[in-house]
Amino acid sequence: MPDYSRRIDCTVDDSVTIVDDIKQQRSDDASRSMTLPPAAYNSDAFFSHEMEKIFHGDWIVVGHISQIPNVGDYFTLDIANEPLVITRDNDGVNVMSAVCLHRWAPIVSGSGNAKAFVCPFHNWTYDLAGHLVGAPYMNQAADFDRKQCRLRQINSEIFHGLIFITFAKGLEPLAQRLKPLNALFEKYSVAELDMAYTLDYDCPFNWKMAVETFMECYHHSAVHRTTLEDSFPGRLSFIGEAGPGWTFCHQPLRKNGDLSEVLTEGLLPLPGFDETDMRQIDLMLIYPSCLIGLNPDRLSISTLLPINKHMTIWHRLVLVSKATSAQEGFAATAAKMKADSLSIIDEDLAINAAQQRGSLSTLARPGRLSHLETTVWHLANYIRTRI
Ligand SMILES: [Fe+2]
Repeated sequence: MPDYSRRIDCTVDDSVTIVDDIKQQRSDDASRSMTLPPAAYNSDAFFSHEMEKIFHGDWIVVGHISQIPNVGDYFTLDIANEPLVITRDNDGVNVMSAVCLHRWAPIVSGSGNAKAFVCPFHNWTYDLAGHLVGAPYMNQAADFDRKQCRLRQINSEIFHGLIFITFAKGLEPLAQRLKPLNALFEKYSVAELDMAYTLDYDCPFNWKMAVETFMECYHHSAVHRTTLEDSFPGRLSFIGEAGPGWTFCHQPLRKNGDLSEVLTEGLLPLPGFDETDMRQIDLMLIYPSCLIGLNPDRLSISTLLPINKHMTIWHRLVLVSKATSAQEGFAATAAKMKADSLSIIDEDLAINAAQQRGSLSTLARPGRLSHLETTVWHLANYIRTRI
């Protein structure tokens, strides 16, 4: 057990010490598991280490193909200080750096449909595959050949509709790592689902706190006492089988609960769901920060992208079956779903912000974990292997 008492300042920027402490916590016994040290949530140096080894070093989810169904569709996000744009052109999906080759302004933000992107700084213009098609008044720049210029292309793989990217070289192909998940993703036709809505919001705390909280239902009886707990009592949740790239938490509906408690009005069940599956919600983490919520009638895919040690952007995307999205009045259903989700989100945001404040205490130490939150330990083990 590391000697935390000698560390007066938990924000100490000593990444080596924190890495040593985390490695010393290694155990194969879930019943002895504990949280990472509080300093792992509060150190600039450790955050930089995570950016290098995890967010620049592994496969990261950026979204789902339903966000760009038509030629010209695009969306943008930033991963570890890398502004990216994801587009669809006639040849398929492109994942590119959005940083202008000229003087680095991102050429586009938000999402939409475009024929080309015009940099807002000096009107340099790029097509949907990132080729530079316009660069005004560059005719006197010696040896400048516009046709040789293209936005930096980012290595990507699409797994059942989920778009993954990596900045790292020589990683094991994603399809290989996630192969055991093929049957599950096929069962629910994840590649065929349609987008209901997207929701992006700021989380004023470390990215790991957001991931950990999504992945355990132990907190339902306190944080969601008046919302989720009645239908989905945290004590009934259980941890599923973890693999090299993922882990699961399962949350059954309360005993004798009615199916109406798990189904949303206006949504049809996802293809692949039968009556027995419908009495449970599955939560899945694909490391490091892709969170999937599998409900009988919808699938949420979130990617949590850190801005700094205490700020994370939550990009949430909710998918439904094509039969649901084709229904009359679906836009109103989707808007209502989005509005209804905010109360649960607010409850989680408030507790994680409080947790972050507590983690800065010089008296905070690693805490012991319940069997209901073994997924917190699974994330810690993933981090141990990456750092
Ligand atoms: Fe929660």
